[in-house]
Amino acid sequence: MYDYLIVGSGLFGSVFAHEMKARGKSVLVIERRDHVGGNIHCEEKEGINIHQYGAHIFHTDYKNVWEYVNRFVEFNNYVNSPVANYHGELYNLPFNMNTFSKMWGVITPKEAAEKIAQQRKVITGEPKNLEEQAISLIGTDVYTKLIKGYTEKQWGRTCTELPAFIIKRLPVRYTFDNNYFNDRFQGIPMGGYNKLIDALLEGIEVRTGVDYNEQREVYRDSARTVIYTGPIDAYFGYRLGQLEYRGLRFETERLEEENHQGVAVMNFTAREVPYTRSIEHKHFEYGKQPVTYVTKEYPAEWRPGEEAYYPVNNDKNQLLYEKYASLAKKEKNVIFGGRLAEYKYYDMDDVIYSALQCVEKELAKTK
Ligand code: FDA
Repeated sequence: MYDYLIVGSGLFGSVFAHEMKARGKSVLVIERRDHVGGNIHCEEKEGINIHQYGAHIFHTDYKNVWEYVNRFVEFNNYVNSPVANYHGELYNLPFNMNTFSKMWGVITPKEAAEKIAQQRKVITGEPKNLEEQAISLIGTDVYTKLIKGYTEKQWGRTCTELPAFIIKRLPVRYTFDNNYFNDRFQGIPMGGYNKLIDALLEGIEVRTGVDYNEQREVYRDSARTVIYTGPIDAYFGYRLGQLEYRGLRFETERLEEENHQGVAVMNFTAREVPYTRSIEHKHFEYGKQPVTYVTKEYPAEWRPGEEAYYPVNNDKNQLLYEKYASLAKKEKNVIFGGRLAEYKYYDMDDVIYSALQCVEKELAKTK
């Protein structure tokens, strides 16, 4: 009998498995897909690591998490500096002095702030919808060119139908700084994310192509404790209903050119362009290959059974999740963790942090 059966080989499961193995525990990892790594898995083609489940950029403010991942793989100095493309006009993101100077020809931060102040519509009372909220924060030009179309595609609804709370604040920088993230540490694993997962899982027994919920009789009693990182509603056979997700569809193209768009991440902010982002993977790792791979991301309605990307955190889903979470609490010797079991958007650093905390808690319990 194993000490731990770990269901799912994403970051949560792999970190947990690694830490327990390092402490002499016996662990078995089972994974539904035919590869390990969960959503950070990359497919390598002609020396280019393709982020198969969406672009992944590692960024963190936790020094211990940064040091932790660097123990397994070296990270490069990639800094995410996406470019927005609005009908062929290119703007730097996040909104900063480069964006404002391109949009209005302004030179100083004072001029940019004045321009935004002129364009902002001050509303009395609460904003009624996302459009009102965005215009009250940033003004009409930035809203129209860089927020409206992108947001409408992402959510499949117009900004006047979307609730204001989706945009609580808009990061605006009055400096010439295109670094998308504010975190202290950032980069991409040199050689790709698979290196990180392979190093975490080194020496650990892993079985791919095994769905725990379909083979529970076989696996349930194979370990003292189960770490479950799959969807929480699936674990309970959807008996209270299904949690909803926002879907994504990816179309990847191989192009016979060395450099297609000059940047890893380009956001397409016009409503008429059906995709939201175009990812040129080689730029994450400064690739010099003679060819390139570009993935277009299309937001999509999600249907049960499809890949679950972003949880839809409205009241209905939150309530349903809480009901499942209270069932989960009653499960003996099962720990639920990670983005699917907690029905939560987690960045990679947060999921590692959470897995490490889970290990600590578990060790304290078994001491
Ligand atoms: P993850 O989903 O990775 O792993 C769960 C694993 O469990 C999967 O491999 C699944 O197949 C398996 N599984 C599920 N049910 C099972 C069952 N019944 N039996 C066996 N196995 C089962 N973060 C960040 O920091 N920077 C970024 O740039 C991005 N970008 C990004 C883009 C997109 C489109 C998304 C959706 C997410 C991001 N993220 C991100 C977040 C990042 O993907 C996330 O933090 C981690 O993948 C979460 O790891 P988990 O282990 O929790 O889940």
